[in-house]
Amino acid sequence: MPSNFVAKGADGYEAIMGRWSQRLAVPFLDFSGVPSSGRVLDAGCGTGSLTLALAAHPNLTAIEALDFEANYVAALRNRSADPRIRAQQGDVCALPYGDEEFDGVYSLLVLHFVSNPHQAVREMRRVLRRGAMAAATVWDNYGGMPSWRLFWDTIRALEPEAVGTGAIPAKRPLTGEGELRAAFEGAGFSDVADAMLAIRMDYADFEDFWHPMVYGQGTFGSFFDALPEARRNRLRDAVRAAYLAGESDGPRGFASVAWAVRGAA
Ligand SMILES: C[S@@+](CC[C@H](N)C(=O)[O-])C[C@H]1O[C@@H](n2cnc3c(N)ncnc32)[C@H](O)[C@@H]1O
Repeated sequence: MPSNFVAKGADGYEAIMGRWSQRLAVPFLDFSGVPSSGRVLDAGCGTGSLTLALAAHPNLTAIEALDFEANYVAALRNRSADPRIRAQQGDVCALPYGDEEFDGVYSLLVLHFVSNPHQAVREMRRVLRRGAMAAATVWDNYGGMPSWRLFWDTIRALEPEAVGTGAIPAKRPLTGEGELRAAFEGAGFSDVADAMLAIRMDYADFEDFWHPMVYGQGTFGSFFDALPEARRNRLRDAVRAAYLAGESDGPRGFASVAWAVRGAA
């Protein structure tokens, strides 16, 4: 299986991550740079947060978008009628394109879900025109996402048996400091540069935080639903208390950090 991502439908994805990946796409493209013209690839497009940000660049002539999840690809097709966008199902470890076809290749929040991320990075380089840039970003998902730590740490403390079931995500590849950069250097990219990108994850209230975290992606929702009601309530109350931090319910914002890298083929 080339993907370790457990999808739960495009709407759930938008609520748990798509709304934040749209935000992250902006500093990511500022850091990556976008060619003044030509053909680009969104490798691991999901529901299209980055594809649509690329489509805001009118001089690009073609935007290829590829993802392992067929229903995300379908959701992206429904989101835009831009004739430059061509979305298809596929594997970033075996890109269905020839050598040196692209003027830019991008990967937003994907490589840490790919079973063989180093192969994916080699593929990103293979399909790039010599001298053109590729860029990737992944969350610093241990220290850089305080709202997610609040959620998972509370669950670890109250339901420790969840740890061995896969319901709680383990540390993902390339999410440590310097790991993305090393992957790009190892794949033969030159002029490699890395950076830390930050956005805010802003929730309207506890329910806006809680529901997507439980049911938006992954296998935690099934684990949670199988718990006896008293343990479900205990868990929800504890996460709620952490979210509220002693104040009344309402909006909360959490600065969140991703690692980014770019390099020339
Ligand atoms: C967190 S989502 C990011 C999606 C999108 N780039 C965004 O930022 O919203 C991770 C995506 O990686 C995709 N993915 C994981 N492994 C893949 C693979 N081997 N080939 C293609 N897509 C893959 C998943 O299907 C999922 O859509």
